[in-house]
Amino acid sequence: MKSLTDTYKLLNGVKIPCIGFGTWQVEDGEEAVSSVKSALEVGYRHIDTAQGYDNEGSVGTAVKQSGIDRKDIFITSKLTNTVRGYQQTLDAIEESMKKLQTDYVDLFLIHWPNPAGFRDNWEEMNAESWRAFEELYHQKHLRAIGISNFHPHHIAALMRTATVVPMVNQIRLCPGETQDEVVDYSRAQGMLLEAYSPLGVGKIFDVPELKELAKKYDKTIAQIAIRWSLQRGYLPLPKSVNDDRIKENAEVFDFELNEEDVQLIADLKGCAGYSDDPDKVSW
Ligand code: A2P
Repeated sequence: MKSLTDTYKLLNGVKIPCIGFGTWQVEDGEEAVSSVKSALEVGYRHIDTAQGYDNEGSVGTAVKQSGIDRKDIFITSKLTNTVRGYQQTLDAIEESMKKLQTDYVDLFLIHWPNPAGFRDNWEEMNAESWRAFEELYHQKHLRAIGISNFHPHHIAALMRTATVVPMVNQIRLCPGETQDEVVDYSRAQGMLLEAYSPLGVGKIFDVPELKELAKKYDKTIAQIAIRWSLQRGYLPLPKSVNDDRIKENAEVFDFELNEEDVQLIADLKGCAGYSDDPDKVSW
């Protein structure tokens, strides 16, 4: 990867810019509009939002106000945990498209495999939602479809009825958290791994080994982590509401970590915590 607009290719040939701007915990309104616009100005062409982030409207506004062609921006959103079922999913995605002010979304994901409200029947409910995803995919309202936080047993359950293989699995991947089993299983089916919280939600900044590496490469800790993510073949989704950091997080194409350092960062087990167990989350 040589620049922000370089792409990974999904199973169906759709190209996805190699770094996405993350918007989890970016407040709807002024904060979301201005940070998404800053990201677009710096050159990000991939914005990651979700129904559950409650900021799709601001993302839509920022994209419109940027003046950049809609087709040149890759937008991802996700089905929230309180919605499952065929018709409910169709309706919810239509609502997302209205908020995003677009008649298609580049990538739509099932956000969590086993929401608290569907713990008794998540397999059937995911299957029904996936049927709606497939329909919208065939109608070209969704250019690509995928999943998030799915472990192998959730994927296997989905594949019993799926006719379109998910193209992406978006999971928490950051220094010290590599979820090898999930990554290997997803990759074996051809999925791209997207890395949410690539900066460990801000927890990586106190890790001594990362401080050392930042010194060694004359880069910031954030840049080391994002570069590491790319070199592992993940698609990182760093979040920031600060203009300087938004820019900093995109400047990761003029250096390369050596193999030992890539491994060293992977081996910092738990340095920025671990993801929630998707079968136990309370949402
Ligand atoms: P802020 O939004 O105030 O910049 P993650 O992407 O893993 O979820 O991490 C996001 C957290 O890391 C946020 O708290 C964000 O704060 C912070 N952050 C993002 N980029 C940087 C950076 N380059 N340097 C320091 N902190 C950063």
